[in-house]
This record gives sequence, C-alpha cells and structure tokens, in this order.
Amino acid sequence: MSLQIVSILGCGWLGLPLAQHLLQLGFTVKGSTTTYAKLEVLRQVGILPYLIHCHPDIKGKDVAEFFASDVLFLNIPFRRSLENPAFYKEQIQSVVRHVERSTVDFVIFASSTSVYPETDGWVTEDQDIRPADPRGRVLWETENLLRENPQFATTILRFAGLYGGERKIGNFLSGQSEVAEADSPVNLVHRDDCLAIVSQIIQQNIRAEIFNVCSDGHPKRKELYTRAALHLGATSPTFAASQGTRLKKVSNQKLKEKLCYQFLHPDPLQ
Ligand SMILES: NC(=O)c1ccc[n+]([C@@H]2O[C@H](COP(=O)([O-])OP(=O)(O)OC[C@H]3O[C@@H](n4cnc5c(N)ncnc54)[C@H](OP(=O)(O)O)[C@@H]3O)[C@@H](O)[C@H]2O)c1
Repeated sequence: MSLQIVSILGCGWLGLPLAQHLLQLGFTVKGSTTTYAKLEVLRQVGILPYLIHCHPDIKGKDVAEFFASDVLFLNIPFRRSLENPAFYKEQIQSVVRHVERSTVDFVIFASSTSVYPETDGWVTEDQDIRPADPRGRVLWETENLLRENPQFATTILRFAGLYGGERKIGNFLSGQSEVAEADSPVNLVHRDDCLAIVSQIIQQNIRAEIFNVCSDGHPKRKELYTRAALHLGATSPTFAASQGTRLKKVSNQKLKEKLCYQFLHPDPLQ
C-alpha cells in the first residue's frame, strides 16, 4: 500500500519541519494551525494550509477536506498549563469523531514518556502502566481510546523531552538555582531524529505499535545542563545537594530493532 497524503494536526515546532521533511520525500502534506497569519507561512513552503482549532470540539474551515487523507499525525500539545487535564482527552475525542468519518485509516499519535510513572530503572513499551498522577492517567486513557478504535490503526510515539533548533538544552535551566535531581538521568530526543522516525513509520507503514522515542544517551542532569549552558555562553544552573534522585531511563530498544534505526543525535551530551 502506498500512502501519499499526510495530514498534520498542529504545524508547530515539530509539525512544521516534519511537514517540510515529508514534502521533500514526495508526500502531499495538509497542515493545520490555529493562527490565521501562519496560513501563509505554511502555504509558502508547499503545505496545504487549514485553520483548525480544537476547543475541545473542532472549529475551522474546510475541516472535512483536511481529514481527506491517508495518514493523520496527531500533534496537539498536552499543555502543562491546562487547568483540567481531561480537556486534552476531549480534544482528541473530537478529532476521533472526524477521523471516523474520513478516509484516514492510520493515525500516528504524538504522546509522551510522561505516561510512565516515576520509577527506578528502564521503562519499556510492553510494561503494564497504571499512571497515578492525573496528567499521566489522561494521557494513558487518550492513547487507549485511539488504539482501541476499530475504524483506524494507531501507532503511539512516546516522545522524551524534545530539543533541537531554537530549543537549546543550554537554555532549559540556565540561571536557575537549587535545581533538584542533579544525579538523575535525562531522557531527551533531538528533533532531527523525531522527523526521521515519523517519516520511517509512514514509509514502512508500521501500524498499531507503541514506540518510545528517546536517544541512547542518558547523562546526569547536572553534567548535561552545566556543560550545555557553558557551551552556549549562558549562565549555568546550580544544583541542590543530591536528594530524591529519580532514575527512570526510557528504553529505545524496540524502536531501533523494529525500524533498524540509528539515531542521528545519539547522545545529548554531544
Ligand atoms: N515539548 C516536549 O518536550 C514534549 C515531550 C513529549 C511530547 N511532546 C508532544 O510533542 C508534540 C509536539 O510538540 P511541539 O513542541 O511541537 O508543540 P507546539 O510547538 O506547541 O505546536 C503545537 C501545534 O498544535 C497547534 N495547536 C495548539 N493548540 C491547538 C488546539 N487546541 N487545536 C488545534 N491545534 C492546536 C499549534 O497551533 P499554532 O500553529 O497556531 O501555534 C501548533 O501548530 C505535542 O503533541 C506535544 O504534546 C512534547
């Protein structure tokens, strides 16, 4: 089966360069934004632009046309500022109602490794997770409502912390003091890898799977953020004396094996 049209709901920091990458690979790309002025930006790089807002119901122009495609990359951010995290699930439910009426039969969902509870050691896709905190629970329920829908296949990508482009690691904690968890390992992934991985999932047509998307290297927070701030010429953070160290490490083994994928940026320290 050849997938040709990809709709990207949310052409933001990740979605816009992903759209450009897919255009270079020869796909037709439909992209959405909530910002009227950005429609022209999308059009100029060759994306078919749509003004769409989920609040939680979908409002917008030519919405049915946006969903007339082969694949949907579902990329609405799960903002920490949301007062009621359940609102996010309602947004996705409203998207699902549109997908059910459309030609899309393959959804790729941008989830997060925050779905895993804070635990010591490696976390993998096959482990039974029961998130205790409200945000983790909403995200997990949202993944499940997508995966269990019989009208389309969903592949879940659990992204680690995203960096790259203008999101520089050296700026993340710059100038902060008494930062906790100095010795905890970081779980991060570069945007270039995210673009390559989403594209390969589409090209290899890998459906109904869950993948952690996290780079190989897990340096300690103190080492990484101090070195990255120095590298940028920014003010290094200071760290509290080690306490309550969380040792969660996100495994990328399944992704590397199933996609035969080698990370472009394997170690955030580099
Ligand atoms: N940041 C992280 O470290 C991290 C970690 C794990 C997973 N993720 C996930 O990765 C994905 C990409 O993140 P990002 O940083 O690229 O996000 P972003 O830059 O905030 O982009 C989000 C896109 O979604 C659109 N959007 C926002 N609210 C919307 C709504 N209510 N209805 C419809 N569209 C809406 C935005 O519209 P405009 O174009 O108008 O701005 C933008 O195009 C998100 O799903 C996020 O939850 C992020």
